[in-house]
Amino acid sequence: MCTSTLRQLLYSVALLGVLAATVHGVQLSHSVASSSAADIYHSTKARYNKGSESPEPYTWDSQFLVQLEIGTPPQLLDLVLDTGSSDLWVFSPQVPDWQKPGHNEYDPSLSSTSKPMPNATWAVRYGDGSTSQGNVVTDVVSVAGIPSLSQAVETATNVSIDFYGSPRADGIIGFGFSQRNKVKPQPQKTWFDNIKGTLKHGLFTLDLRHNDSSTLDIGFVDHSKHTGKVEYLPTSVTHQGAWGFNGTGFTVAGRQVDPPANSSVLCIADSGSSLMIIDDILLSTFYALVPAASYNATEQLWVFPCGAELPDFGVRLGDRFVATVPPSYLEFGQTGYDPDLCYGSLQSNAGLNLSIYGITFLKSLFVVFDDENSRLGFARKPLIA
Ligand SMILES: *[C@@H]1O[C@H](CO)[C@@H](O)[C@H](O)[C@H]1NC(C)=O
Ligand SMILES: *[C@@H]1O[C@H](CO)[C@@H](O)[C@H](O)[C@H]1NC(C)=O
Ligand SMILES: *[C@@H]1O[C@H](CO)[C@@H](O)[C@H](O)[C@H]1NC(C)=O
Ligand SMILES: *[C@@H]1O[C@H](CO)[C@@H](O)[C@H](O)[C@H]1NC(C)=O
Ligand SMILES: *[C@@H]1O[C@H](CO)[C@@H](O)[C@H](O)[C@H]1NC(C)=O
Ligand SMILES: *[C@@H]1O[C@H](CO)[C@@H](O)[C@H](O)[C@H]1NC(C)=O
Ligand SMILES: *[C@@H]1O[C@H](CO)[C@@H](O)[C@H](O)[C@H]1NC(C)=O
Repeated sequence: MCTSTLRQLLYSVALLGVLAATVHGVQLSHSVASSSAADIYHSTKARYNKGSESPEPYTWDSQFLVQLEIGTPPQLLDLVLDTGSSDLWVFSPQVPDWQKPGHNEYDPSLSSTSKPMPNATWAVRYGDGSTSQGNVVTDVVSVAGIPSLSQAVETATNVSIDFYGSPRADGIIGFGFSQRNKVKPQPQKTWFDNIKGTLKHGLFTLDLRHNDSSTLDIGFVDHSKHTGKVEYLPTSVTHQGAWGFNGTGFTVAGRQVDPPANSSVLCIADSGSSLMIIDDILLSTFYALVPAASYNATEQLWVFPCGAELPDFGVRLGDRFVATVPPSYLEFGQTGYDPDLCYGSLQSNAGLNLSIYGITFLKSLFVVFDDENSRLGFARKPLIA
């Protein structure tokens, strides 16, 4: 299972054109909490100004899951938290039975607040080539106790092996921008867009952590979660609907490395991707310092002996701030073909002219996704190696 999960993750770097997110499978529950419809509607009358949720790490920090309550009474599902896409989709009863084992599903017929959205369909293809598709209903969806009362919930009728073959995730919740929502004929708003007007501040923060509790905070910045100042950069909506920003430079082992002149400085902050997908020139500089590192041309992936001593990798953000990814985060995991070889967490964007900063990067920092002010904030935090 681990091997196949890793392989699926790594397909994201095999690049099939547009990159967005790498993700996976599902699980079935109906742990119905005691809160009634009345409670839920009552609570929406309050103005929410904060909420917190603890995303659960998955194998090798390859993805983080967040728990959602969908419908009335609430059905609990664990979805991949993905800032690189803009659809909220779930396993549903319509998924073929053989795709269901290990996954929770949302059944609209068990919810008194679900409403069909006639003729609406959706289909998503993620950067790793994984796909899912289906129909749409609206229902109450709460994250961290914050309800979106009429949320478009995209119910899957068919998912690709990346999702059914990998347990735990029951779907995906996109925290990207609504512009890229895939519902047809009428694109729908993301959960965050629907609830942000009820927040004191229209933002969320991610404190993803290696082997430690991680948090998604909604509507406030918890300054106890970082050290030093938050460095803010302007953000733009990329064609993936992801949070784009300009990376201004790099360091390898503390030395400055210039990005290639013909390449874009555009990066996306993508919690749905596991690795950092960057320019080849940076990679050759980095891996030149790793003894016995090599590029496996068949897999199109950099590998090196597990436990190798690695340099650190820094990204300059704005004028002053260098975000350093510690060496221990730069070894991703064992290859399936040789237990002494490990995949690196830095891999090639194959000339894509875009860098994808996934979990390897995000867990090195405290990150503010400030929708209200169209900016991304980055700050240091104490790290457990
Ligand atoms: C759905 O599609 C059917 C057949 O194409 C059409 O008759 C019906 O008006 C559509 N309903 C809505 C709400 O668009
Ligand atoms: C389900 O998806 C797979 C590939 O993603 C496709 O080959 C198959 O035709 C789909 N089945 C249906 C019923 O749509
Ligand atoms: C995770 O942390 C625990 C202690 O909190 C430690 O025992 C364990 O080895 C760590 N696992 C990994 C994979 O780092
Ligand atoms: C990134 O830099 C380009 C110029 O290279 C500029 O046009 C663009 O607006 C910048 N984007 C952001 C989000 O700062
Ligand atoms: C890469 O993208 C930048 C804009 O972000 C553009 O200026 C540059 O021409 C692109 N380079 C190539 C080789 O497409
Ligand atoms: C490259 O990876 C494949 C597995 O995809 C493996 O069979 C092959 O031995 C690897 N090549 C090298 C040179 O290690
Ligand atoms: C930049 O140029 C190098 C070498 O000329 C090439 O390998 C690379 O693909 C180019 N990058 C882009 C984004 O076109």
